[in-house]
Formats: sequence, C-alpha cells, structure tokens
Amino acid sequence: MPPDLTVIVLAAGGGTRMKSKTMKVLHEVGGRSMVGHVLAAALATEPQRVVAVVGHQRDQVGPHIQQLVPDAVLAVQEEQLGTGHAVRVAMQAIGQTSGTVVVATGDTPLLTGESLRAFVAEHLASQAAVSILSGVVDDPFGLGRIVRNDEGDVLAIVEEKDATDLQREIREINSGILAFDAAFLADALPRIGNDNANGEFYLTDAIGLAREDALAVSAHPIDDVMQTEGVNDRAQLARIGAELNRRIVTRWMRDGVSVMDPATTWIDADVVLAADVTILPGTQLLGATVVAEDAVVGPDTTLKDCEVGAGARVVRTHAELAVIGDGATVGPFSYLRPGTRLGTRGKIGAFVETKNAEIGDGAKVPHLSYVGDAEIGEGTNIGAGTIFANYDGVAKHRTVVGPHARTGSNNTFVAPVEIGAGAGTGAGTVVRHDVPPGALAVSAGPQRDLEGWVARRRPGTDQASAAAQALAQSPMAHDPSDESPQERA
Ligand code: UD1
Ligand code: CA
Repeated sequence: MPPDLTVIVLAAGGGTRMKSKTMKVLHEVGGRSMVGHVLAAALATEPQRVVAVVGHQRDQVGPHIQQLVPDAVLAVQEEQLGTGHAVRVAMQAIGQTSGTVVVATGDTPLLTGESLRAFVAEHLASQAAVSILSGVVDDPFGLGRIVRNDEGDVLAIVEEKDATDLQREIREINSGILAFDAAFLADALPRIGNDNANGEFYLTDAIGLAREDALAVSAHPIDDVMQTEGVNDRAQLARIGAELNRRIVTRWMRDGVSVMDPATTWIDADVVLAADVTILPGTQLLGATVVAEDAVVGPDTTLKDCEVGAGARVVRTHAELAVIGDGATVGPFSYLRPGTRLGTRGKIGAFVETKNAEIGDGAKVPHLSYVGDAEIGEGTNIGAGTIFANYDGVAKHRTVVGPHARTGSNNTFVAPVEIGAGAGTGAGTVVRHDVPPGALAVSAGPQRDLEGWVARRRPGTDQASAAAQALAQSPMAHDPSDESPQERA
C-alpha cells in the first residue's frame, strides 16, 4: 500500500429512507454497524489516517466511529451540500495535499478489505489523477453513469438527474468509491460548482476537471458489484444482511465447519469457529462468540458473546456472555445469562436458568432450576427444581455449594448460604443457614397421613372410589413405624 494513504468515509447524510431515529450507517448487519464494516475495509488498506465526515446526528455517529477507530479524524459537515463539499470539509480538517486519498461511503457493508486494497493498487499502477471503482449493473437507476469515449477513456460521471436519455442507457456505474492523487484533489475541490439538477457540489465533477487538466482518469469495474451496493432502506438492509450472512456462512463451511442448513444459520462477522464444528438448523452465533472444535451447536440456539469448548453440545439454548467448558452439555431449553461459566463436562439441563454462576468441572444442574450468583463445586449434582434464592428484595447474595455435594429435589437455597463439600440435602429442603461438609440438611416437615380423610371429606368422588377400590384389594396393614412422631405421641 502507498506510504501516505488517507481514507475518507462519508457519513454525514440523513438516510431518510430508513425512516429511523437511528442514523443509517449505524444500522447493523452481521453484528456490526454498516459504517463499522466500511471502517474495517478501510483499515485493511493500512492508511496513515482515516477521516470520517459526519453531519446528521453526529452526536451518535461521531462517538461510534471513534470507538471503532480511536485515531480517526472527525470532520463536521454542518450542511450536506453534496459529496464534493463533504470531501472538501474532510481535506480541510487534515490539511492534506500529498499522497493518495480514497473516498468511500459508510453504507456499503459488503465491501471487503481485499477489494479496497486491490482498487488502491490498481489506482497507483494506473498513475491516474482519479480512479473510479465502477461496476456493471442490470439496473443502474439513480446511480452516476461512467461516460467513456470510443477508445474507452473515461470522460465523466453523469448523475441520473443530469443524464441524457442515451447516457441513462449506460450500465457501468460509479460505486461511489474513488481514489485520488491528493495534490490534484486539493486543487480540484475549490473548482467544483453546484450548477446541476440537484444544486449540489458533486465530487464526481472532479473527473471532468482532470480531463480538462489533461490528467489521466481510470475506472476499474469490480466483478463482485454487490460489494459496493449502498443500503438506502430497510428492505435493502435485510437483503444485504442476508447476503453478508450467506458469504460468512460459506466462508466457514470452506474452513471446515459443517452447517446443516445455511439458510437458517446466522453468523456475525466477528464470530470465530474451529474446524469440525457442527451447526444445526435455526442457530444464531452472534457478537464475539467463539466455538472450539468438535462442538455441536443447535438446533434452534442463540449464542451471543459466548465461548463454547471443544466437543461441547449446546441444544435449543439462549445464552449471552457465557462460557461453556470442553465436553459440557447444555439444553434443551436452557437460558444462560451473563457470567455463567460451566466447567469441563458439566451439564446445564432442561428449563434451567443461570446467571453469574460458576459451575465446576463435571458439576450438573440437570432439570428445572434457577442458579443465580452462585458457585457450584466440581462433581456436585443439584437436584431437580432447585432455586438459588439470590435476591432478598433489596440486594443480591451469593450461594456457594462445595464439591461433590448431592442436593435433593425441590430445594431453595436462601442466599447468602454455603453448603459444604460432600454435603447433601433432603427433598424439599429450604437451606437458610450453612450446611457443614458431609452433613445431610433436612428442613421439610415430617409427613403425616390422615387415613380415611378422602372417604370422610370427599365421599362420592372418583378419588374416593379409587381409594376404596385399592383398599378393598389390599388393605394397608397398620404399621405404627409408618406414623409420624406427632401421630404416635
Ligand atoms: C453518489 C454519486 C454517484 C454514485 C452513488 C453511489 C455523487 C455526486 N454521486 O450518488 O455517482 O453512483 O453515490 O452510491 O457523488 N454525503 C455526505 N455529505 C453530503 C452528501 C453526501 O456525507 O453532503 C454522503 C452520504 O451520506 C452518502 C454518500 O455521501 O453516504 C453519497 O451521497 P448521496 O447523496 O447518497 O449520493 P448519491 O446520490 O447516492
Ligand atoms: Ca446514495
């Protein structure tokens, strides 16, 4: 790449056709804003500086861009007087008059770094004052047409509204991505007027000016013209988003990931997958999710910013900011909230919700439980239907269960509380204070059987006749050892 490269990203326009309170370039596809994709492509050209032209809702757009590219220069365009004016504002902000300047727009999320690099290389090789990344499209409506002479030399870019009927037939269009010799650009910008159908300062008029100055102009058609397609409304956003996803999913399949149903699999741009990962239908891998080899994810699973270990199995699960260990199993119907860490070969089973929960190696929470603000030691099994009661209505408290504990079904652990290593609890236990290691905690009241109660209180019901029939067949022997202490007393 050239030693002195400036990339200008235009992002000042309103994007009114989005009909949104969110600026157009901030709308997301593939887990990134549109301008985020363009900035990623820009950075791939290893520029000396990135300048973003902001205007509309710059209080939203400016901070977003600076978060992604901290040393980007923000050039404020108070009024959107046209692309020529926008670039002039950018050049004034940096005072640049040497090197190479690339201009891109912030609404082309399919643009790749490779394509932009290739275009810059072609521009330099052609030694042109201006190069256009052009494209041949079926429907050029609304786009600037590349006007060439019989020798194929580029003469001008003519905008739709200013074009003659004959020029409107031209199917080679301006993608909006241009490369300039900076000295020429600095000289040309003040010479651009606004005497056209839109009354705007057109950056594309620089082509005609270069021709007047007898400088070389070149246009390089891109094969994959979708890469330069700008998004203007939400229907286009969905279409480009689906195309981006198709490309990402295809890339991962080429890298050794099995995807059973690409059409229902969504993978964000920043996700990282190992070879031999299997993704089953209806799965979304979002944000910075990372999946290690031999893991199987899905069907019908959403993972956002999660880490899935090698060989793990995640079925019908919704998880965010969770870490799932090697060989662990999750689901079906599990909800892992931020701060969940499941150890190696651990298990989070059906209808279990976890939050801020460290679940040790080989530990299991198999059924119908809520585990919040907890630490569960390795090899421990939590009984079905256990609630870690972490919230007293005012503050959250922590529960610690030691290693190799066996807790009973339908328990409540009233935090803060600690259950010791190797301890157990009976079914229905409400643990309100610490359980020593190795102890069995039991808090449920003793069972009492009021014999004959149904016959006395529900006579004539199906319940009563079922009971009577059973008793007639095998009358229960009266065994005093079955009785509760109260009844004996
Ligand atoms: C522009 C090109 C056209 C090309 C098309 C590709 C011009 C005159 N025309 O037309 O040849 O085919 O892009 O999409 O350049 N912007 C600013 N400030 C402004 C004006 C625009 O930041 O004052 C930004 C917009 O936010 C947008 C981009 O520049 O991202 C393009 O501007 P727009 O007005 O949409 O130009 P087009 O009519 O699409
Ligand atoms: Ca446009």
